[in-house]
Amino acid sequence: METSDISQKEIGFSMPRIGDKAPEFKAITTQGEINFPSDYKGKWVILFSHPADFTPVCTSEFMTFAHLEEKFAKANCKLVGLSVDGLYSHIAWLRTIKDKIEFNGMKDIEVKFPLIEDITMNVAKKYGMIQPGEHKTQAVRAVFFIDPESTVRAVIYYPLSLGRNFDEIYRALIAMQTSDKFNVATPADWEPGNDVIISPAGSCGVAEERMTNTDDLECKDWFFCTKKLNKEKVLDEIIES
Ligand code: BEZ
Repeated sequence: METSDISQKEIGFSMPRIGDKAPEFKAITTQGEINFPSDYKGKWVILFSHPADFTPVCTSEFMTFAHLEEKFAKANCKLVGLSVDGLYSHIAWLRTIKDKIEFNGMKDIEVKFPLIEDITMNVAKKYGMIQPGEHKTQAVRAVFFIDPESTVRAVIYYPLSLGRNFDEIYRALIAMQTSDKFNVATPADWEPGNDVIISPAGSCGVAEERMTNTDDLECKDWFFCTKKLNKEKVLDEIIES
């Protein structure tokens, strides 16, 4: 048995999967107490963890997320951060970021979204954020996308040394919202304005129809059909103006 297997059992590790309801918890944050996910019903949430306060990669990520908070809000998405540090450490770190740190042209950045204190690791354990093969007491960089019905829709994990790509996090959010709204899938590297994918034919009849009816579909073969989806149409439906 691997050491990491033993440790995972010891810490009572669980890992929400895509399609699961987001595990519930009550927590203290830098913005007061939250009841998760019930406080966020009707909104998308990005719940993300970071290894520790007062560390450089985490600082660069927090500044970037805070800078983009308004952009995520316009897509009906709230941000919630977490680390296995205490409330006073969080407060001191966020004050230092605002007062002293400049990164990528950003400065005087105020983090207004909640940062959960999780000294007991209660939340980190429920969400599989402690991955003992990487670190025994610090959370990895996890990103949970949770939809307005509190269902986990996507999960991305990064190791401690790797800062996240926020363009990709935003792209994934908009792509999932587009799939929900227009009942389509999105191909590799999709961005609003690119063609979207129609779900594969589920019967011989539909397969035949796909190849003969060329109204608004472009089928390379019966299983590979795309259609145009205007960028403005996507943004009108998803982004609050
Ligand atoms: C950082 O945020 O800089 C960091 C945190 C833990 C391990 C390595 C880097």
